[in-house]
Amino acid sequence: MKVAIPKERRAGELRVAASPETVKKLKGLGLDVVVESGAGLGSSLPDAAFEAAGATIAADAASALAGADIVLKVQRPLLSGEGSDGVDELALLKKGALLFAILNPHNSRDHVKAYAAAGVNAFAMEFMPRITRAQVMDVLSSQANLAGYKAVVDAATEYGRAFPMMMTAAGTVPPARAFIMGVGVAGLQAIATAKRLGAIVSATDVRPAVKEQVQSLGGSFVAVENDEFKQAETAGGYAKEMSDDYKRQQAALVAEHIKKQDIVITTALIPGRKAPILVTAEHVASMKPGSVIIDLAVEQGGNVEGSKLGETVVTANGVKIVGHANYPSRIAESASLLYAKNLLALLTALNDKEKGITVNWDDEIVKAIALTRDGAVIHPAFAG
Ligand code: NAI
Repeated sequence: MKVAIPKERRAGELRVAASPETVKKLKGLGLDVVVESGAGLGSSLPDAAFEAAGATIAADAASALAGADIVLKVQRPLLSGEGSDGVDELALLKKGALLFAILNPHNSRDHVKAYAAAGVNAFAMEFMPRITRAQVMDVLSSQANLAGYKAVVDAATEYGRAFPMMMTAAGTVPPARAFIMGVGVAGLQAIATAKRLGAIVSATDVRPAVKEQVQSLGGSFVAVENDEFKQAETAGGYAKEMSDDYKRQQAALVAEHIKKQDIVITTALIPGRKAPILVTAEHVASMKPGSVIIDLAVEQGGNVEGSKLGETVVTANGVKIVGHANYPSRIAESASLLYAKNLLALLTALNDKEKGITVNWDDEIVKAIALTRDGAVIHPAFAG
């Protein structure tokens, strides 16, 4: 069976869906691995490193993908007219190929139909269920963790003052106050990173389970803890959309807190929905000049009023609102290594000693991530 790893062609994507380590292990499963030339360059992985691990290097996307049974990608394939170099990646996939990538189907329903029309069996890695067996395949966690770290490092770079308190002969530099809004995987790593840098850290979330986690990392917890808050978690561990009344109360509490903050990092997401606004224009206007806000949810509509995708906005009162796109790609080398491992873990689970990679369509993991099968859209959120 042939596994292809093409170069990512979407703008700003530096990650790659394999590493020399995973290539070696894929070979160990009996697979032939073909990597498109230059696929790893954005992650400092030259062709030679893949070759040394046992991959064949293909000169272009067409030869990498020709006849591939399995295609590993970071982002969804380009359709005709989408990319700057004119490659229609989907058209290069053979009928019956298995495609594994972060397919972002909620924002690309036409693509889901196109996978079906092309007879490609597409699997959305971000739909990986949060069950123990799938933890090692959980791309949202592996990438969000790095994003949370990088957001704090970016904030420290944008910030004109120091994070830690410094007592020097010339005077004392006060510690920065960092407020993390949304304490999932990214938020927890942001808390830990800001704390390591010496900031005074506080955090908020709508899920009650988070309070103890924040405190165990040395942060203080800021939230309206009423009855709605006590029930605000789905069985899958995700946040629910909160009532307007709750949002008003929480906004009032945040209004008092945020004025005193130097750094705000927002990470709040509700799966399949637009991100909730947590920082209003009034909140921003109350902050000190030089304060920095990083909106990690900017691609899902943003948690911060006034944040702009791909831009750093400086407000009239001198607050920087940073809206970088594709955070994991800003730390591409680490992100690629972990993402490649997530994919390897999934393929290893699908591998049958005699038959090779085999999809068991009744498996809980497969059911959760499969979008299309044999020409039809089968995922309940997109079928029909
Ligand atoms: P996410 O990326 O969907 O959202 C980030 C955070 O924003 C969440 O903590 C959410 O509660 C919060 N949020 C949403 N609306 C908000 C609002 N209005 N105000 C403040 N905060 C708001 O979350 P992520 O990182 O995917 O984690 C979700 C849950 O899944 C967590 O409980 C995490 O511990 C759990 N998890 C479980 C895993 C497993 O069992 N295998 C693996 C990874 C995470």
